Amino acid sequence: MTAYLIKGVSVLGAAPTDLLIRDGVVAEAGAGLSAAGATTVDAAGLVALPGLVDLHTHLREPGREDAETVESGSRAAALGGYTAVCAMANTSPVADTAGVVEQVWRLGREAGLVDVQPIGAVTVGLAGERLAELGAMADSAARVRIFSDDGHCVADPRLMRRALEYVKAFDGIIAQHAEEPRLTEGAQMHEGEVSTRLGLTGWPAVAEEAIIARDVLLAEHVGSRLHVCHVSTAGSVEVLRQAKARGVRVTAEVTPHHLLLTDARAETYDPVYKVNPPLRTAEDVAALRAALVDGVVDIVATDHAPHAVEDKECEWAYARPGMLGLETALPIALDVLGPRWDLIAERMSRTPARIAGLDGHGLDPAPGVPANLTLVDPAARRVVEPGELASRSRNTPYAGMTLPGRIVATFLRGEPTVLDGKAVR
Ligand code: DOR
Ligand code: ZN
Repeated sequence: MTAYLIKGVSVLGAAPTDLLIRDGVVAEAGAGLSAAGATTVDAAGLVALPGLVDLHTHLREPGREDAETVESGSRAAALGGYTAVCAMANTSPVADTAGVVEQVWRLGREAGLVDVQPIGAVTVGLAGERLAELGAMADSAARVRIFSDDGHCVADPRLMRRALEYVKAFDGIIAQHAEEPRLTEGAQMHEGEVSTRLGLTGWPAVAEEAIIARDVLLAEHVGSRLHVCHVSTAGSVEVLRQAKARGVRVTAEVTPHHLLLTDARAETYDPVYKVNPPLRTAEDVAALRAALVDGVVDIVATDHAPHAVEDKECEWAYARPGMLGLETALPIALDVLGPRWDLIAERMSRTPARIAGLDGHGLDPAPGVPANLTLVDPAARRVVEPGELASRSRNTPYAGMTLPGRIVATFLRGEPTVLDGKAVR
């Protein structure tokens, strides 16, 4: 195993130091280190962060390998500074059995670029009718702890209650895609002034807020852990704020796109901006940013949702919802939060690792800690070029935008997955 001597790096914005990475861990930290036989990485001007952890990634395998594979998505993740991702269950077949979650887990190990932690479906086939084999998935080699029907809401309150009760035994989590289905029938975008003007059917904020309000009450009643996927409205933030103040065991995520873009994008009719939940208003964006800073929203999660060209480059009404996220998440966080490295580490690494229970991830680089880390050049600015992305899909809403920050290197257990801004494999 090669040793790496990272010279002159700023750990989370602190004064420059050296890090020696050997045998999978950070072996030493301090100025003026030397190590015979180690490969030197000149990290002057670079910031070291704990490897990022994504709680919400769509890897599309099995079933839609034309849009993404576990390997291509893992590569995109590594290039984005991630060392672990949680793979959503809405594959084909759905990850609702021990067999499928083990398959995804094994493919992740084979790719070896990030740790891939499968999420299991809550209900069989994501159909919202019968609970999937949650216990079998938990007991499988994939050791599933998070369950989600993401893409669909677990709308039946009785089923949601049962799911929360079931996972309590092993301190599991139900991650809810909060969307009241009756309130969003035929919805194409956020319900508001823009949808009225464009004549597109609206997806009202209350469809999200009503489910979150119900689910925090259910989680409180049962005493289980609830995670709310892709929170997108100011009203949702207030529901979460009240629930947290009461001590409900609820965590929540926001996506980079909901922190940056608004429903005004729909005016272009470019389906690259179609996503679920939809892009909201500038007031919602402001509330989400504030909630991310004050902690009512716990983490940034990408909802990386690759789609094949034929599913995305078509009429708005027929396009699938979703956008790429892994390779642009940290630059957007930098853009939105500024170089607040401790906050970025908290929201994009430590807290998601803790929620998902991913041992060895989310730990600041320090002696004895597993060497899962990423090196960022905060001074670099890059134009997003869809053709340069490692994802098999091209549906980035940031094409042509200049974003701050470049991920220079990523290490997974001491082995580089990215060096000089390029994937090692
Ligand atoms: O925009 C979305 N795309 N939202 C979801 O909930 C699912 C995801 C997908 O799988 O494409
Ligand atoms: Zn979702």
